[in-house]
Amino acid sequence: MMKTVFIRTFGCQMNVHDSEKMLGVLQKDGYFETHDPRKADLIIFNTCGIRQKAEQKFYSELGKTKSYKKRRPEMKVAVAGCIAQHEGGNLFTRAPYVDFVFGPQNIHMLHDIVSRRNRSLALEDNPDIAKEDLPVKRGDEVKAWVTIMYGCNNYCSYCVVPYTRGRERSRSSENICAEIKELAEQGYKEITLLGQNVNSYRSDINFPGLLRRLERVGGIERIRFVTSHPGDLSDELMDAIAELTKVCEHIHLPLQSGSNNVLRLMNRRYTYEEYMKKVLRLRDKVQGIAITSDIIAGFPGETEEDHIHTVKALKEIEFDGIFAFKFSSRPGTRAEEMKGHLSKEVKSERLQQILEIQEEITEKKNRSLEGTTHEILIEGESVTDKGKLTGRTRTNKIVNIPKVESEKGTVLHVEITRGRQHSLEGKVIKE
Ligand code: SAH
Ligand code: SF4
Ligand code: F3S
Repeated sequence: MMKTVFIRTFGCQMNVHDSEKMLGVLQKDGYFETHDPRKADLIIFNTCGIRQKAEQKFYSELGKTKSYKKRRPEMKVAVAGCIAQHEGGNLFTRAPYVDFVFGPQNIHMLHDIVSRRNRSLALEDNPDIAKEDLPVKRGDEVKAWVTIMYGCNNYCSYCVVPYTRGRERSRSSENICAEIKELAEQGYKEITLLGQNVNSYRSDINFPGLLRRLERVGGIERIRFVTSHPGDLSDELMDAIAELTKVCEHIHLPLQSGSNNVLRLMNRRYTYEEYMKKVLRLRDKVQGIAITSDIIAGFPGETEEDHIHTVKALKEIEFDGIFAFKFSSRPGTRAEEMKGHLSKEVKSERLQQILEIQEEITEKKNRSLEGTTHEILIEGESVTDKGKLTGRTRTNKIVNIPKVESEKGTVLHVEITRGRQHSLEGKVIKE
């Protein structure tokens, strides 16, 4: 009998990729994906608890399934991901129409979980049982994600990830290479290595060693990785990025704050000066590298002066782009207990300032690319303009070009004709 599943994903790339794994497992079980939750036999919410906003959005969408289930009582509702791991059985009390709750370490058990008639809870707490060889139903035919490490040991004081994803575990390099070779055979051109703290990867080899090994996989043209912790950015890694031709010239390197007081409170374990030194070395070793970052506005105890340090840092470093967020107090974290929580207004005001400054910088940087040439990997039609093709530079910038006879997955040489706030325009110079 044909069964259908609707998966709603919140949160980071890791979660998006976990949803691909869930679909892979369920497909083996005879499920088909549907995009209409009302018609699904199974609804899965793959949740994120990083900020309150993501959490609220999930709960409001979860609420709607109550009425779907009234109409179709045979429908099953599952909550997965980071909120599931954190809340566990409380979810059954809060939303009695939920049937299954399972954590990020339990995707390999999905077959068993969804075939149960009764409510069930699966929250693995043994960090060694991160099952790896799961079937994956990938959302794209050119770019693929590959998880290389799970969990995080950093315990930044604001963050729930160490509690929801558990301790750091690295996959074996053999296993990773095998997966990537298979992807190459299937025609994938770009892979993104995933980990909350991707550059602290360590098995029989370290992260630069892994990059060197992956460089040799034929067929793969681009290798990316997210997210890097500044503390684990070694000279050896910088050299690997510089030397290896497939490893792209882009690093996402969250700074979080430009104030050493705040960085200490955040438990980030580096000072602004140390961070800056690494940025300069990176730019020196890797010509044209793009550096992007995350910033948190209004951490507890952040003074106006601390905030000004962040603003100054943005101006000094000139990131290619940032994600900036208002501090959101998360249950169970150390920051929740700290003194000096700021009002919504102060946080919003500081965030706004940060975004405005970065907007100017991004636009300036993009404009400075006009006239330069880049390799772009074609991702398909532009979503905003059907007459155009869209691709990304090795530095991860989006370029739209007038349509040419070119398939998704080909690499084109383009000249940038215009730099805008969120994208670049270009024209083909050589195929
Ligand atoms: N492992 C990555 C990303 C973690 S989540 C890293 O270490 O950088 C992505 C971003 O969300 C973080 O970099 C941080 O800027 C932001 N974030 C995490 N917890 C937050 C919180 N409680 N409030 C606001 N932003 C938060
Ligand atoms: Fe969270 Fe810090 Fe780990 Fe990133 S490094 S996942 S911000 S605890
Ligand atoms: Fe969110 Fe969990 Fe990712 S909390 S950001 S989905 S690791």
